[in-house]
Amino acid sequence: MKKGLRMVNIFDKLSNKIQDWKSETKGLLEKGSEKVLSQVTVGQAYGGMRGVISLICDTSRVPQDQGLIIRGMPLKDLVNKTPEEIYYLLLTGELPTKEEVEDFSADIKKRKHVPEYIWNVLKAMPKDSHPMTMLDTAILALQKESVFAEEYEKGIRKEDYWKPTLEDSLNLVAKIPAIAAGIYRMRFNKGDIIAQDPNMDWTGDYVHMLGISGNNKDFKDLMRLYLVAHCDHEGGNVSALTTQTINSALSDIYYSLAGGFNGLAGPLHGLANQESLKWILETMEKLGGTPTKEQLVDVVWETLNSGKVIPGYGHAVLRVTDPRFEAFLKFGQKHFPNDPVFKTVDLLYEVVPEELKKISKIKNPWPNVDAASGAMLYHYGLSEFSYYTVVFAVSRSLGLTAQAVVNRAMLNPIIRPKSVTTSYIKDLVS
Ligand SMILES: CC(C)(COP(=O)(O)OP(=O)(O)OC[C@H]1O[C@@H](n2cnc3c(N)ncnc32)[C@H](O)[C@@H]1OP(=O)(O)O)[C@@H](O)C(=O)NCCC(=O)NCCS
Repeated sequence: MKKGLRMVNIFDKLSNKIQDWKSETKGLLEKGSEKVLSQVTVGQAYGGMRGVISLICDTSRVPQDQGLIIRGMPLKDLVNKTPEEIYYLLLTGELPTKEEVEDFSADIKKRKHVPEYIWNVLKAMPKDSHPMTMLDTAILALQKESVFAEEYEKGIRKEDYWKPTLEDSLNLVAKIPAIAAGIYRMRFNKGDIIAQDPNMDWTGDYVHMLGISGNNKDFKDLMRLYLVAHCDHEGGNVSALTTQTINSALSDIYYSLAGGFNGLAGPLHGLANQESLKWILETMEKLGGTPTKEQLVDVVWETLNSGKVIPGYGHAVLRVTDPRFEAFLKFGQKHFPNDPVFKTVDLLYEVVPEELKKISKIKNPWPNVDAASGAMLYHYGLSEFSYYTVVFAVSRSLGLTAQAVVNRAMLNPIIRPKSVTTSYIKDLVS
């Protein structure tokens, strides 16, 4: 794709929206910029800023008693949508009409070619590199394609920053399925990289290029759900906050998303799906199949007593079962209720919360999305755990780039909170 700005519907649509968002925010700041959102205690400053309200994110929110709500719409009402529709919703705040989504999808399809040098970079990496390291490396290597960096160099007006940011976002989002699928095939010796199909949609082409489960319609349906369910989770989680902090320095989308994905690769964030399935399979192996509830209780305590967390359970914000987990559970109950791994996931849901409730320090005993997502992929033959965070990242590219476009449009300043030293706290406390 040639560099340069192209005006398509999504740009026009956003142009109008941005004017409204800006004047709304201006009014709010005039009226209430001194209103207090949060006070920060010493405990919160030492405690990962948990519960401190200090960010604005309009693409989605996560109320602790409801879970993911995208642009005002609960996830459960969006589980039959496509990632293209969801991306449009994240960016504009509206679900697209049939014509709008056709136009938007066609635009994404035109941008999906991955330059040859990306494959050469990936091939040069050590054969045992983590798939997330490969994804981040590929994204950073693509940075030279940034339209924002080029336009900034030329001296683009501040009000127009969002346009090349959107251009970069669409380009990167369009390419990510091919990059991710190529990484899968290279890293796990699956044979040659499978060429893109110019006519396939975002999900279909990803499934096609992974080259597993043939043309299994159910697998495609699962991937569509997976890519919708993981798309965004408000602004304060590690990958979102990192992406937006980097982006606020006017680094382009490639730098920003690669940085955010480095955070997603951590075991307390996006790597937990891999940890969760690993734990389930180890348990099943040890017990010789689908365990009983009594056996699971013992395994839960064995894990806890050895100082480990129960992967897939607990959440920094949520205080109910994650609706994303519920969506996967429903999918499994419909499509493969007798799969032994899925049955174990289902049983764990009956067992784990009751046990975690007995530990008072754990604020949320309920499952998060990672308690089920790995088992879903596993059922269809995607059994390489270390790849799971990459599938998560493919989906999360939607929300993180949408947040970055909105932040650029709103001309949000560089993020720069203030830190203090321990001796400052000593003086304060004494
Ligand atoms: C997600 C997670 C990191 C949230 O952490 P948090 O906001 O600090 O959660 P809490 O406030 O409830 O944690 C309080 C304590 O309970 C522990 N805890 C929380 N969830 C736990 C779990 N699933 N198993 C065992 N202990 C858990 C914490 O480790 C912490 O212990 P500490 O004080 O000794 O460090 C945490 O629940 C966790 O590690 N879960 C397992 C990993 C996971 O599923 N991650 C995916 C998140 S989407």
